[in-house]
Amino acid sequence: MGEPKKVILTCAQPTGVLTMGNYLGAVKNWASMLGSYQCFFGVVDQHAITTKYVPANLRKNTLSCVAQYIACGLDPKQANLFIQSHVTGHTELAWLLSCLTPIGELQRMTQFKEKVAQLGFKASDNEDVTSELKFSHSGSRAQSSINAGLLMYPVLMAADILLYNADAVPVGSDQRQHLELCRDLAQRFNHTYSDTFTIPEPFIPKSGARIMSLQEPASKMSKSDANQSATLYILDDPDVLRKKIMSAVTDSGSEIKVSEDKPGVSNLLQIHSLLSGTSMTELELHFTGQGYGALKQEVADVVVAAMEPVQARYSELIKDKGYLESVLKDGADAAQQRAYKMLSKVYRKAGFVERPR
Ligand code: TYM
Repeated sequence: MGEPKKVILTCAQPTGVLTMGNYLGAVKNWASMLGSYQCFFGVVDQHAITTKYVPANLRKNTLSCVAQYIACGLDPKQANLFIQSHVTGHTELAWLLSCLTPIGELQRMTQFKEKVAQLGFKASDNEDVTSELKFSHSGSRAQSSINAGLLMYPVLMAADILLYNADAVPVGSDQRQHLELCRDLAQRFNHTYSDTFTIPEPFIPKSGARIMSLQEPASKMSKSDANQSATLYILDDPDVLRKKIMSAVTDSGSEIKVSEDKPGVSNLLQIHSLLSGTSMTELELHFTGQGYGALKQEVADVVVAAMEPVQARYSELIKDKGYLESVLKDGADAAQQRAYKMLSKVYRKAGFVERPR
């Protein structure tokens, strides 16, 4: 018998349709790992309630996210697909880890500060955001917008990973800091009690780890961008995809090459390269002497062709609730089994009395 397969775990929030960033930076890579690893892919509905949301949309988006996962190639026969709230243990382990996490560490997390800023509050490196808000004139607005869950977000994410004792976590580069905190917490737990958790490795792809906005190529492509033409969604109609790509912001000059001073063109070349499998150098050669219009046209063709089978598969899957539920049942059973074992071990180490049987 060979070595047991290493375990990877990763997740996405069910906040709507996956973006081309989620697809190229994450889900497409996860699909390439099937078979080589024991895979756990979660839809983190408990993370999705840290900002304002509508329950009916969350329910719809969660199921849709599972269908999108499968349509993008995450074969449930080769991976465990599960919904976070179906597995008890995520929030329980998060509580334990929160008792090892200084509040200051959470207040310094970049994504927390960005979210706080998005909600309209000032947050700089040295500020204690939460205490500032307590005394601000808009205290009641602050308390309703910035909840403890938002601050605790990275602890819950660490729990997601450590609950499965994952060896590696494939993510885009925006999750790097959260992964660092997870590794710190695992080490802190091991040091405080005794060796328990594997320290998970981040798997951040060399290319595609950060797909940029089509309208502001200095920022990442994001689901929550107010400017909808900045973001390609994998389920956008072909003509919408084309329109967004044709109106993408490009750079001064006319040469088509990958360069720091050409973030718009580099991003389009990156998207083309990852979807078509053509190297960036080959693409630069191919576009020599051509203009930005030709580049956009070809990127649009490549994107539409790549999304066509994904969209066709999605529209079949989303109609088949019975199938999606059976996938989720199997996924939850497998996830729960592994999670339960780990949580029992953690509770024992932490000094909790075992429940008499
Ligand atoms: P989420 O839902 O924002 O994104 C899911 C995955 O997509 C990647 N990603 C991108 N990659 C490249 N370019 C982009 N523009 C881009 N936008 C998003 C993200 O890096 C991520 O890999 N906190 C996580 C969800 C989470 C999680 C976890 C991840 C909760 N628990 C445990 C891993 C392990 C998040 O909000 O991802």
